[in-house]
Amino acid sequence: MKVLVAEPLEPLLRHAVLPPDIEVELLAEGAPLPEGDHVGVVALLTRRLGEAELARLPALRIVANFAVGYDNVDVAAARARGIAVTNTPGVLTEATAELTWALILAATRRVPEGEALVRGGEWTGWGPTQLLGVGLGGKVLGLMGAGRIAQAVARRAPAFGMHVRYWSRTRRPAWEVETGVEWRSPDALLGESDVLSLHLALCPETERIIGREALTRMKASAVLVNTARGGLVDEGELIAALRSRRLRAAGLDVYAREPFVPPGLRELPNVVLLPHVGSATEEARQAMWDLAWGNVVSVLRGGEAITPV
Ligand code: DGY
Repeated sequence: MKVLVAEPLEPLLRHAVLPPDIEVELLAEGAPLPEGDHVGVVALLTRRLGEAELARLPALRIVANFAVGYDNVDVAAARARGIAVTNTPGVLTEATAELTWALILAATRRVPEGEALVRGGEWTGWGPTQLLGVGLGGKVLGLMGAGRIAQAVARRAPAFGMHVRYWSRTRRPAWEVETGVEWRSPDALLGESDVLSLHLALCPETERIIGREALTRMKASAVLVNTARGGLVDEGELIAALRSRRLRAAGLDVYAREPFVPPGLRELPNVVLLPHVGSATEEARQAMWDLAWGNVVSVLRGGEAITPV
């Protein structure tokens, strides 16, 4: 049984115990999918797997996406062909929540600006009004989304003295009672948040959910953080809001057309830019591999997928 595995996963693959009846073929980044009798694909989020791509592999039984997000896969087309689609939920939750907080802190305390000053040899000494940021204590952390990662971000909020509000289509009464988080309508959340952090899946309903109107509803003193998917934000509108200081700052790990990062964003001092590293810890990436590969083996052995989407 032949399984295509995205080539950048090779270091993880090297340590894996591969069943003798499964033959792995590495798939180079950017290379088109081969036509063939492969029964599995372990794909990166950078690979689009739509109807046309899936049609090249008529024997395909499973697409194991090496990510929790799966907007790169046409799930309906896969389902119509009887192909299982799996993702990697749970194992990257803590890593992504930690990075979300790294961005919240970096954006509110202007960490990259300070670092650039020191690195550039331009720091002339301590100053009472130098690089003033904003504190988090007593402020509102707004979460768009209430999935695992949003909840892990919320768990850390009391350590910073923040109050958590959230919006998601499905309310989570048990979570509210257990932790004191409060649900808000989207507009109320936008207006109330001092830090707004996005934790939604990207789909037609959420695409550019943070556009001109949403940004206008946000406080000028607020900070936007996105560790979910770049497509949730209208980058042109975000640039305009940050440039005119209608929004204090942003912290971004994801972009609409990765790896393209709009020059307008790159030239702004009040945005922290990371290269989609939310789950980039040794622990999380190993666990993502184990889960993705576990899904492949389970499905090819005739069992259920462990984490079907
Ligand atoms: C995901 O899993 O969807 C992240 O974006 C990468 O780990």
